[in-house]
Amino acid sequence: MTTAARRDFPAHDANLTADRPSFVTHLECSYTGERYEADTLHNLSKAGKPLLVRYDLDGVRRALSKDELARRPADLWRYRELLPVRRKEDIVSLGEAVTPLIPLPKLARGLGADPDAILVKDEGRLPTGSFKARGLVMAVSMAKALGVRHMAMPTNGNAGAALAAYATRAGIRTTIFCPEDTPEVNVSEIALQGADVYRVNGLIDDCGKIVGAGKEKVGWFDVSTLKEPYRIEGKKTMGLELAEQLGWDVPDVIFYPTGGGTGLIGMWKAFAELEAIGFIGSKRPRMVAVQAAGCAPMVRAWEKGEEHAPRWEDAHTIASGIRVPQAVGDFLILRAVRESGGFAIAVDDSAIQAALGEVAREEGFLLCPEGAATYAAYRQALADGRVGRSDRVVLFNCATGLKYPLPRVERTLDRHHPIDWSRF
Ligand SMILES: Cc1ncc(COP(=O)(O)O)c(C=O)c1O
Repeated sequence: MTTAARRDFPAHDANLTADRPSFVTHLECSYTGERYEADTLHNLSKAGKPLLVRYDLDGVRRALSKDELARRPADLWRYRELLPVRRKEDIVSLGEAVTPLIPLPKLARGLGADPDAILVKDEGRLPTGSFKARGLVMAVSMAKALGVRHMAMPTNGNAGAALAAYATRAGIRTTIFCPEDTPEVNVSEIALQGADVYRVNGLIDDCGKIVGAGKEKVGWFDVSTLKEPYRIEGKKTMGLELAEQLGWDVPDVIFYPTGGGTGLIGMWKAFAELEAIGFIGSKRPRMVAVQAAGCAPMVRAWEKGEEHAPRWEDAHTIASGIRVPQAVGDFLILRAVRESGGFAIAVDDSAIQAALGEVAREEGFLLCPEGAATYAAYRQALADGRVGRSDRVVLFNCATGLKYPLPRVERTLDRHHPIDWSRF
């Protein structure tokens, strides 16, 4: 039985056991360009900004062909030449499958767009039910490689769940802090997957301050968004995967639910690396940062033409994943949005709720609220002419809709009473 089951899934194993020449050359401060040594533990650069991993892209270009890639198993590790893990024994995997692109043909037609104009990249299929698995599988694998024994992070829920899962698998202790109103399912899954989790009476950046302060006092490694260099490398695979799924092309527009922005920054990096290795040309999608009207620091900064986005006070939205009042990678998000000719857009909670209901009802697809925000933003942008009906757009559904509290259905049927069949 076991042998048969393993024979059914040889594919994933093949990526994990293959030789993995790494092409990492160094790390680089995203703000000053200063070089840092690879393969040592780092948080932010001396300038207090995120560090980015740099590769010998000419070497990758010579080593990797599209045909070779096409023969590999369909998971995140297929892009190993563009990933930082050097030794296969450091990989801590739970099966990070390639996520599908799901069209919304009925809704597209209703909006007067081409039937395949709207594609949803469904990240809810990943381990722990969200795209946070991509970033955390990489951060934890690298932490294991570099001998980390204790990791800590602030989270709005999904990132903590992914960290707990992978760190437990790697035998690394984990301490996690989340805002007190974080969805119950997230807090429970974090605890069940072996982490110490605390609810904090504040927002994610307040939790982040506790993690920062504990670095000295407890000695844990801070794995906050963009405060270590490897989560972004994992998130980058969304861009690599998307381009490959579209036949080494990019869509016209990407709508991304933006909190800390790792995914948006990661995809922007992915497209540059793919161009450098000759897999795509110079065309880029317009990157659209979608935020909630109750927490829209990027939209405000984008509208004012600013480089940085100051803290958003009194942040509130039902899309808890994008309730991030201040992002350490703010300038990288804004830069990608501007360079791509995209924009930042805010949608209010009632539009998010309506979008979630519409996509579920019409297409049988239950998005998470953050994913629903991207559909609401697309509708808004279509209506005000910022995207066209013939644009091919990709919306990111970053988590499964099943992770969120759903409304109780009140309709009942009493089986002891005669049934009124006319009601069906
Ligand atoms: C479902 C969901 N969507 C979007 C985000 C925002 O992601 P990022 O930090 O890459 O902007 C999060 C982050 O918690 C999330 O959980």
